[in-house]
Amino acid sequence: MSDHEATNVSPVTPWVNPLRSPQDKRLPRIAGPCGMVIFGVTGDLARKKLLPAIYDLANRGLLPAGFTLVGYGRRDWSKADFEDYIKEAVKAGARTPFRDNVWERLAEGMVFVSGNFDDDAAFDQLAATLSELDQTRGTAGNWAFYLSVPPAYFSNVCHQLQRSGMAKVAAPAWRRVIVEKPFGRDQQTAKELNEVINSVFPEKSVFRIDHYLGKETVQNIMALRFANQLFDPLWNSHYIDHVQITMAEDIGLGGRAGYYDGIGAARDVIQNHLIQLLALVAMEEPIDFTPAELQAEKMKVLRATHAVEPLSKTTARGQYTSGWQGSEYVKGLREETGFDPDSTTETYAACTLEINSRRWAGVPFYLRTGKRLGRRVTEIALVFKDAPHHPFPEGTRHAQGPNVVVIRVQPDEGVLMRFGSKVPGSAMEVRDVNMDFGYSEAFTEESPEAYERLILDALLDEASLFPTNEEVELSWKILDPVLEYWAKHGKPEDYVAGTWGPESANKMLERSGRAWRRP
Ligand code: BG6
Repeated sequence: MSDHEATNVSPVTPWVNPLRSPQDKRLPRIAGPCGMVIFGVTGDLARKKLLPAIYDLANRGLLPAGFTLVGYGRRDWSKADFEDYIKEAVKAGARTPFRDNVWERLAEGMVFVSGNFDDDAAFDQLAATLSELDQTRGTAGNWAFYLSVPPAYFSNVCHQLQRSGMAKVAAPAWRRVIVEKPFGRDQQTAKELNEVINSVFPEKSVFRIDHYLGKETVQNIMALRFANQLFDPLWNSHYIDHVQITMAEDIGLGGRAGYYDGIGAARDVIQNHLIQLLALVAMEEPIDFTPAELQAEKMKVLRATHAVEPLSKTTARGQYTSGWQGSEYVKGLREETGFDPDSTTETYAACTLEINSRRWAGVPFYLRTGKRLGRRVTEIALVFKDAPHHPFPEGTRHAQGPNVVVIRVQPDEGVLMRFGSKVPGSAMEVRDVNMDFGYSEAFTEESPEAYERLILDALLDEASLFPTNEEVELSWKILDPVLEYWAKHGKPEDYVAGTWGPESANKMLERSGRAWRRP
């Protein structure tokens, strides 16, 4: 049998969305007939993000009429149990208002199949269910399998999908797999994982989720850079002193200790979200935004990026201890339930990366992320060099810092420019001012959630916002030396909850006369 021969569905005519014209991008992008199977549907991610996002898509009219959602899990649930569970998740997490008619239509297509990840009979049952749904719901053999399960189960699920014949189908019907991180814990394990996935699904059918790429403000990096003439001439080592990429969270580990212990901040956030942000900020202009062109440019940057030595001075890591988070006194990591008190897992990580390219040589990219920091904020700050000459008298620029362009990913999504301006009055005194663009003031449309965008893209086979296997492996290659160094060098330093991280992180920048921004 060829790769795409039918197993359990008959070929159907390709569906062409009459509303999607390449000329008019304002028309809604609506998925064609299809369904989705979620593995791990009872997990946190599905409850908080995936199910609400699917409802929001339905509410916006972006799912096909017969869209079908199949849950697969160990619970012994009836259809009614499954519907109740989803309804609760949707009511708690959806972005758009709950509407009975939307709900009822979506609920008609909800099916639960009970089974383990190594249960042949249950997977055969799932395969039979999908074939039946193709006839009764018009899903036309088009199924996306969402693996919202720990990576230890990836292999089981993929092999079961293969064994039961669900992984392949005759064109034009399609089968795709959507995979959640963590994609391994270093380059080697990422390779192994990719081999498993790619042995069952060809790379073009694999959609790896990095939900940061689904955020509007992250896509705006490309609009800002490539739709304007204003920024590009300055976007290089001649004018930029350094770049700071920050993803700070005020929350602690809470119930996620089981997942997080042994992983830590660098693997959880730097390897994926922050390195992807770096790639978008630093890459050259792609020929267009098709997956191949965009990925080619990102790959070039990733190949040229490395951690700056000596790692004892260019990296920092920490673990939060109890302290005041705003008006609340919170526990330290070692008191959190489920966390090993001797754990060396870091909840704060910072590193210095450099890109060997004409555009960026000599410009440090400082990346940091942490839990229980001063506030929740994700931003990219491009900090400019000082002007080569200032014709102002001594002491009149005392309040002026470097010029900065800040891309505020969240919250208060927008872009800020900071520069010196004359203080009103008879003297020539210069002080910093902000020029601030905020999404909420500039646009009336609300931004969709990242998962809405990414799920819809996967259903539409639009892969631009999904990292490839090569990107994932290269990101690990950049981070691996840092992780290996930390593994050999004792425990992370303590930092008090509600502060901006360990002292070593401040020293990391002070050594070169720089300082972290306090967003
Ligand atoms: C996830 C991490 O990828 O991103 C979490 O695993 C983190 O630890 C989360 O809390 C943050 O996402 P967001 O969209 O709230 O910034």
